[in-house]
Parts: sequence; C-alpha cells; structure tokens
Amino acid sequence: MTTARTQDILSLIEAEHRQVEQLFTAVETAGNNKLYDFFNQIYKALNLHTRAEELVFYPAMQEYEETRKYIQEAEEEHEEANVLLEELKVLKPTDSEFKTKMSDLKKAVQHHVKEEESEIFSAVRQCMNQEQLTQLGREFQEAKAKIEQDVEIAMTT
Ligand SMILES: [Fe+2]
Ligand SMILES: [Fe+2]
Repeated sequence: MTTARTQDILSLIEAEHRQVEQLFTAVETAGNNKLYDFFNQIYKALNLHTRAEELVFYPAMQEYEETRKYIQEAEEEHEEANVLLEELKVLKPTDSEFKTKMSDLKKAVQHHVKEEESEIFSAVRQCMNQEQLTQLGREFQEAKAKIEQDVEIAMTT
C-alpha cells in the first residue's frame, strides 16, 4: 500500500467548509422531498467538523498568544450553529420555520467560516510550521473517525 498523503489541517478544514457551502446551495434548490436528506448531511458534516475543530484545532491554538484570543468567539459561534441545528432537527422541512432557521444557520456558518479562513488561519500560519499543521491534519482525521458514530446516534435521537 502506498502511504496516504497527509493534508495539513488548514486545507482539510477549508475543503470541509466548501462542502458545507455546497450543501447549503443544494438545500436552497431542493424540492421538499430532498430537503431532509440534505439537512441530515449538513447536520452530520457540521457536527463532525465543529467537534473535530474543538478537539484538535482549537486546543492547538490555545498554545500561542496570537491564536488563543480567537478561541472563545469561535466556540460561541459553534454553539450558535449547534443550537440552530438542534432546533431544525425537530422541525419538518415543510414547516414555515424551517426555511427561516436554515437561512439563519447559513448566515451564522458563513460568518464563522470567513473568520476562520481570514483572521484565524493567518494567525495560525504565523505560529505553526508546516510539520505541525500536517500532524494536526492527521489528528483531525482521527478525531473525526472516532466521533462519527456519536454524531450518527445524535442524528436519530
Ligand atoms: Fe469552526
Ligand atoms: Fe471550520
């Protein structure tokens, strides 16, 4: 077997941001019968992503003064998204509230993603070298594999 190419954590995070953006676009054009399926995909992707960031990326940011200062706000923004995801989970896609909350979620996520990819990423690049970022990329993937089942259980309860 060839050695799997390990990506640095910033490219992994960025790729997941793009995936979630595509899902939001899919939701906007989907018919009612497909909506819940796309919502489930968003629910799973965002939960995995934010939890893995909280387990691996934010703790690494805790190590440096330059990056530490972004953690609290970022965690609050994750919490905001989580609350909306849980509220959406109990609604039917045909409920009038579903669309409003979905667009609130999209806005919240867009804002957070922008902050991560601009201010946070550039601070992280100043503090961590490529080797650290690649190691964190590995840990990020491992964390996601570990919590995947928890997220799937959360989806059905
Ligand atoms: Fe985040
Ligand atoms: Fe993120």
